[in-house]
Parts: sequence; structure tokens; C-alpha cells
Amino acid sequence: MSDTLQAKPAILVARSVFEPVLDKLRVHFDVQATPTGVVWSEAQLIEQLQGKVGVLTAGGDRIGPAVLAACPQLRIAANLAVGYNNFDLDAMSAAGVLATNAPDVLTETTADFGMALLLATARRLTESEHFLRAGRWKEWSLDFFVGAEVHGSTLGILGMGRIGQAIARRAAHGFGMPVVYHNRSRLDADTEAACRARYVSKAELLAQADHLMLVLPYSAANHHAIAATELAQMKPTATLVNIARGGIVDENALVDALKAGRLAAAGIDVFEGEPQVNPALLTVPNVVLTPHIASATVPTRLAMATLAADNLIAYLTEGRAITPLNPQVIGR
Ligand code: GLV
Repeated sequence: MSDTLQAKPAILVARSVFEPVLDKLRVHFDVQATPTGVVWSEAQLIEQLQGKVGVLTAGGDRIGPAVLAACPQLRIAANLAVGYNNFDLDAMSAAGVLATNAPDVLTETTADFGMALLLATARRLTESEHFLRAGRWKEWSLDFFVGAEVHGSTLGILGMGRIGQAIARRAAHGFGMPVVYHNRSRLDADTEAACRARYVSKAELLAQADHLMLVLPYSAANHHAIAATELAQMKPTATLVNIARGGIVDENALVDALKAGRLAAAGIDVFEGEPQVNPALLTVPNVVLTPHIASATVPTRLAMATLAADNLIAYLTEGRAITPLNPQVIGR
């Protein structure tokens, strides 16, 4: 009897995910689940991946030439995130390994957080809360924690994909903010009208924004897209919010600008060396720092993990994918 049973293909879930997602995967696969809190180094990931045909990854799990060469049985890596700068897509395609990400399901939640971080930063929410918790609140005065106006002020958005557009709609319709944006390519007129957003050059964006929101994908070309030169072009009263990827901002230049009063405040959810945080950032009072949580609501994180699991199931059982990044690999 056991001779007639086919062994299920083996997969690795490289980050802890919700139990219902593991149960769904277990119907089809022999699942090796990673315990909560464990993050594999590249060498450990290679070890864990031996004999596995699929892997569910998070943004810190790099799938590049070393992993691909050492794991020839691997056929698919499904990312839990929409951003996929942890994938070397060219190397994966050359090795015939399908890459998938988790777009759409986190768009609105991430846009909510973008607005939350903007509001918290401009209105000095955490700085004033720390003051209160420290027992330093003795009296009220007119200039007490005065911040920057959000409603009616100009929002600049760098990177106008799905999340950028969702932020623009919130800002324009909900907060009456004029929205300017810069993107690799200009949006069509209908989308611009729906977002009430005006296309400008990057230089105009930097100069006009009262608040600048970074929502562009990370690539080598975008490395330190906001560095000393760009910060110098912004209004000294401006707020910078980064919910994209850490490497997009030169953190040392940002700290210098904040300390010198060349920028009013910054809200940062993503860090260049995360989970390590540049210690200089921790010394600046006018920053709000959060640990990469823009998509962190229970329904959205469940939807992200479910989409990644569905990609694994679709590809490994039916040879198709829901959100492929290198579809040319399919059927090869
Ligand atoms: C989170 O940063 C994501 O890319 O989904």
C-alpha cells in the first residue's frame, strides 16, 4: 500500500506564517516550517533548502546566485512582500526558478500607514508622547510641540504605483492636499484625475513638497535617490516619509539634514541595514521610527501569506502562477 503512495514535494516556509496558511500548504506539500523569530543566514537557508522544490520567503531572504547554485531542485520562490529586491530576478530566470511576489492585497493598508506616519511625523506624535511618558509635562503653552500643517499642504509622492496612488487619493480627497508626483512614467490622464495628482520633475517635486512620501521600488538605480543633494533641494520646513525601502535614503545625510535644521522631520519605516537601525537615527528627536510595519494588519498579513502560498500551490501542482515576476520561466 505505502508503495503506491507518492511522497509530497518538500517546501520550506522560511519565515513563520499563520497556522491556517501552513495547513493549506500541508494539503499539497511536505512543509518545513520555520519557528517564530528565526531568520536564516544565507548558509543556513541553503542548508534548509536541500531537497526543497519551493520556498516561501520574506524580504530579508536573499535568493541569488549562491542559493540557486547550491539548491538545484528549487523551482519557485514565493515572496510574502510586494517588494522583491531580495530576489536576483535575472539569476532566478537563468536558473529556471519562478519568482512571485504579493502585490495588490496590501495596497490600501500600506497607504493607510503612509498617512499615519506622515501625520505622526508632521504633528510630532511620538516625540510628544515620549515627553509625556517621561513625566516632563508641567504646563501647556501656545508653542508646545507645534508641528507642520498636514491638511491643505502640498504632498509630493516619489513613486506613483498602486500604493502611491492610494496615498494620493487619501491625501487629495480626505485632507484637501494638492498632490504632485514623480514617477518613471507619467500616469494616464484618468488616473491622474482620480488621484488629483499633477506630474512634475524630480527637482520640482523636491522643491514643492511640504511633505515628501517615498513609495518607489528599490533598485540599484534608486540607491540613495534621496541623499544630501536632494535633501538640500527640499524646503527646510518639509517632512520626509519613507515607506519604500531603506536603501533609497542616505541615512547619514538625512541625520545631518535633521540635525542642522535643513529638514523639519522624518518618518521612517524601512532601514538600509534592517533589522539593524543606523544608531545616528536613534539620536535625533524629530524622527518617527517604526519597524517595517506598513502592511501590518491581521487581514492584510494573512492575505499576503495566503497569496504567496497560493502561488506555490498553483505552480507546483498545476504549472501556473498568480503573480509571477518572471513568467517566461513557466513551462520552460
Ligand atoms: C513590504 O515592504 C513589502 O514589500 O511588501
